Amino acid sequence: MRMASKLMHAVWYESYGGGPAGLKHVEVPVPAPNKDEVLLKLEATSLNPVEWKTQKGMLRPIFPRKLPFIPATDVAGEVMEVGLGVRSFKAGDKVVAMLHYLNGGGLAEYGIAKENLTVPRPPEVSAAEGAGLPIAALTAHQALTQAAGVKLDGSGSQKNILITAASGGVGHYAVQLAKLGNTHVTATCGARNIDLVKSLGADEVLDYKTPDGAVLKSPSGQKYDAVIHCATGIPWSTFEPNLSANGKVIDITPGVSAMWTFALKKLTFSKKQLVPLLLIPKGRNLEYLVKLVSEGKLKTVVDSKHPLSKAEDAWAKSIDGHATGKIIVEP
Ligand SMILES: NC(=O)c1ccc[n+]([C@@H]2O[C@H](COP(=O)([O-])OP(=O)(O)OC[C@H]3O[C@@H](n4cnc5c(N)ncnc54)[C@H](OP(=O)(O)O)[C@@H]3O)[C@@H](O)[C@H]2O)c1
Repeated sequence: MRMASKLMHAVWYESYGGGPAGLKHVEVPVPAPNKDEVLLKLEATSLNPVEWKTQKGMLRPIFPRKLPFIPATDVAGEVMEVGLGVRSFKAGDKVVAMLHYLNGGGLAEYGIAKENLTVPRPPEVSAAEGAGLPIAALTAHQALTQAAGVKLDGSGSQKNILITAASGGVGHYAVQLAKLGNTHVTATCGARNIDLVKSLGADEVLDYKTPDGAVLKSPSGQKYDAVIHCATGIPWSTFEPNLSANGKVIDITPGVSAMWTFALKKLTFSKKQLVPLLLIPKGRNLEYLVKLVSEGKLKTVVDSKHPLSKAEDAWAKSIDGHATGKIIVEP
């Protein structure tokens, strides 16, 4: 019997809004892979804020493409079936994948991934560690390497980096990756996570609820060459006095005022710039990140694990905005 004729447990929403209560548990057919796709039996899925933002309608009309929608893209699992054109994988392979952002599908027992965003997962990397990576670690990687110009092999010039919300999904990977790149890292987080963020490698940590933390002032007087801005709601005027002459703020959640600052700084040829960043996921970067985890150079901090039958609890935790590391759902 082909997998496609079987039913699976999945969690979807049928309309915008509703938060955790808007999620419904359903039985739907196991999807079948197209030519360039693999069917995965999911072992772990991680949540990202974009998922509840999409449910809220904040990305309307682009996402979701249609309702009902099974959310989440970041998964680890085992290949069950491959499309006719797939060459790199076979049934039984353990992988990490980012499902297509338009299709989602991660809150389910099975999911479909494109071959080019699927990478092998060695036995040293657990399903939860792998599933944490795609959106969060790829964003940290892109922000540091492309936008901030940090070379992760440590061969570049020494840079001072500020990472805001360093205890969150993106931030905790950014701290670790930045330290691989020969940088001095100042990080912000809440008081309860200071020791954790130091243990990830940050040189200096600011409690964002203290006066010095609120103004992002480095305890040792560093000016920042780049800010990997993973928090929200901090105006340009707070960053500006803390930046070095050519300092950049890489904003991964740019709102209207950030976009104005971006345009203004460009038009006035300012040396200090605001750079809005949108993730462009690449399989080779995901493969690199999985390798770092397998070598013990990068770790996924797991905030909490939730069974698929209680996906609402994971969803509520994500909306709450106080995760330390990644929220994992296990089918
Ligand atoms: N542009 C892109 O392509 C892209 C990709 C990925 C993510 N994003 C966006 O980036 C943002 C971060 O994502 P994420 O997955 O890292 O979120 P997350 O895991 O939900 O972040 C939660 C963490 O942020 C900390 N935090 C909140 N406000 C803070 C502040 N003002 N200063 C310091 N720490 C603060 C919280 O600490 P406490 O609990 O102590 O408050 C918590 O540990 C989201 O808005 C997300 O949508 C964008």
